Amino acid sequence: MLATLGAGCLLGAEAAPRPAAPAAFEPGKVWLDTQGNPIRSHAGGILEREGVYYWYGQERAGRPSGVTVYRSRDLLNWEPLGLALPREVLPEEARERGVCERPKVLWNAKTRRYVMWMHLDNRQYTYAMAGVAVSEKPEGPFAFLEAFRPVRFDFGYPENDRCRQKELGNTFRDMNLFLDDDGQAYVFYASEDNRTMYIVRLNEAFTRPAEPLVQGRTWARILVDQYREAPAPFKYRNKYYLITSGCTGWNPNAADLSVANSLFGPWTSRGNPCVGPERHLTFRAQSTFVLPAPGKPPGCFIFMADRWEPKRLEQSTHVWLPFVVREDTLLLEFRERWDFSIYDALRGGQ
Ligand code: GAL
Repeated sequence: MLATLGAGCLLGAEAAPRPAAPAAFEPGKVWLDTQGNPIRSHAGGILEREGVYYWYGQERAGRPSGVTVYRSRDLLNWEPLGLALPREVLPEEARERGVCERPKVLWNAKTRRYVMWMHLDNRQYTYAMAGVAVSEKPEGPFAFLEAFRPVRFDFGYPENDRCRQKELGNTFRDMNLFLDDDGQAYVFYASEDNRTMYIVRLNEAFTRPAEPLVQGRTWARILVDQYREAPAPFKYRNKYYLITSGCTGWNPNAADLSVANSLFGPWTSRGNPCVGPERHLTFRAQSTFVLPAPGKPPGCFIFMADRWEPKRLEQSTHVWLPFVVREDTLLLEFRERWDFSIYDALRGGQ
């Protein structure tokens, strides 16, 4: 059975008339779900399956409660499905006073399972583990499998490492999943205490790294010593793109776009893709995911980001912006309001 976001949501839906369906994206504004409550799905990602979109994210209404999931057919109207992964099933370190962040889900056609990866941490952010859970249904409930650090590689472990990387493996924090056209899945994550990004190919079930781990062949260190996080990868015309943020906690900073011909690199920075006011702050938001724009020609995408409210995380909003890839690069511009017709204009400029 699914937990709900709160009994009030259900009662409210019966008593009150439904809110008007949003007709356009309004980045940074409060975005109501189909029950009239603000969508709480942060640092999340979207899975499309048979024309239905599932939006997984972290919830921060007071104490984080697990991974939320919403369902939609048009990306504007989102029906809350409650918790896909309740906090109770997490390892103690994350469950008691820690966090469960940046959840992402892939569908595995071979095992016919939905596989969720997430970043688990304690309050001090020294636990820094990957968590993996699986489900037969997209809405869950997901069964938690294990928490671990995928790679142990001697990058010159620091003395008195608060994260005990030599012993437990290299840290796992901000993350994303990526499914390539050939069916191989990968996890991107900030490692080495956020100094260097790792990319690791997953096994057939998508539940662990592909083994044996061979640097340069099954995993790689990328954006070395650059302190990047919030990775949002995507592919277009045989090139790989990766949008990241800097490491300033909940405070916004400048994004970076990197491009590569191979997932294991070399990755080349194209600099900050944002233009216009607040470009150095990514419009006061932090990347989380890039989604191909439904029904639009290849090369049309949606950039998804979170505008954090550090003192009131539960009031953080969502910033979704349209973009097209042109000559191996892209520009992100803030828009108060947009809908899918914007892509004609964006492409027209090509
Ligand atoms: C951010 C990171 C978030 C969260 C936060 C905690 O830099 O992107 O996912 O971990 O730090 O301060």
